[in-house]
Amino acid sequence: MEAERRRAEALDAADPLTALRGRFLLPDGVVYLDGNSLGALPAHVPAVLDDVVRRQWGTDLIASWEAGGWWTAPERAGAKVARLVGAHPDEVVVTDSTSVDLFKVLAAGARLRPGRARLVVEPGSFPTDLYVAAAVADLLGLQLDRVAPADLAAHLAAHGGDVAVVAYSHVDYRTGELLDLPGLTALAHRAGALSCWDLSHSAGALPVGLAEHGVDLAVGCGYKYLNGGPGAPAYLVVARRHHGALTNPLPGWTGHARPFAMEGSYEPAAAVSRMRSGTPPVLSLLALDAALDVLQDVDLAALRARSLSLTGLLVELVGAHVPSLRVVTPRDPARRGSQVSLAHPQAQRVVRDLAARGVVGDFREPDVVRLGVAAPYVTHADVVTTVERLREVAP
Ligand SMILES: Cc1ncc(COP(=O)(O)O)c(C=O)c1O
Repeated sequence: MEAERRRAEALDAADPLTALRGRFLLPDGVVYLDGNSLGALPAHVPAVLDDVVRRQWGTDLIASWEAGGWWTAPERAGAKVARLVGAHPDEVVVTDSTSVDLFKVLAAGARLRPGRARLVVEPGSFPTDLYVAAAVADLLGLQLDRVAPADLAAHLAAHGGDVAVVAYSHVDYRTGELLDLPGLTALAHRAGALSCWDLSHSAGALPVGLAEHGVDLAVGCGYKYLNGGPGAPAYLVVARRHHGALTNPLPGWTGHARPFAMEGSYEPAAAVSRMRSGTPPVLSLLALDAALDVLQDVDLAALRARSLSLTGLLVELVGAHVPSLRVVTPRDPARRGSQVSLAHPQAQRVVRDLAARGVVGDFREPDVVRLGVAAPYVTHADVVTTVERLREVAP
């Protein structure tokens, strides 16, 4: 595949974003295509963490809650996430896990639409989203409707007046399909419902435009395209217009208006800070806070263009050179997230053999080879290497 390699190298040379790879530490000889599961380590983060542990914790001790900016880190990191998802800085807070945050925003969202007794979710959602939505429905006495996006218009035409929240994932974790966030949000709004999006597989990979599209609620992972490290805390987003009536279903002292007054009754903090509950995991939080700096000066439209160029090349070369694999991810760029999923009857074995040859992807039931393409550190040359290895392991 010499001609393909020359073409890929020319594409990398012409794209200024290829230089972003230098901001990450990745082992030599590895093509890392699992950044949609665990993002790579930004090169400056080890020194930040070393300072947090040795100086801030080890020497400055309790004073670091103020001096080290520990107390305000959920909002500080939230403002950095806000830039990536197109929200206002005071609409995002980094806290808890995606599962817990989804619980919080779904319950809070349902309370913002009293009298409506249905919650809509996507049947193929990541399992935690389904479990959490079912638990919220159960607790609040709502009916859970599993509605595919293609059926949402008909569902809302029949039951829209009774739907409190429509909760979908922006990019399908298994197929890599990108849903029409503006269109589906507008449908929900026309029925008077709130829209809620899980951005785990889109934030940091493509522009989301939450405020522009009027999205009400959102959540997402910190450890995928945001590169916050294993178990990094997640974030939640609540649009400003809902802050006045917003209640946290898990109120805790760190979300109180005056946490250190230690009052016996709860008064929520301003804006989205009221969605905080307990003490944040400071080490993980500060790793994420630092990791977010990697993307703060990056033009997201250019990053999206690079991502589509990479995934487009991968789809094209797999189609041309690896007939045993079926491309599951939509070929239409407008419907493609930042991953390419390939079906193969021995997908698990293919993923294992690929890894043994230095190309790291992952397997998803039942038959999917999932290749995450994080545009900041994956190159067009990596794509050609991947296809060469795929030809070897899945001839
Ligand atoms: C769409 C989606 N939501 C949520 C999660 C995980 O949530 P949590 O941070 O609670 O583990 C994942 C993890 O892969 C995911 O893909």
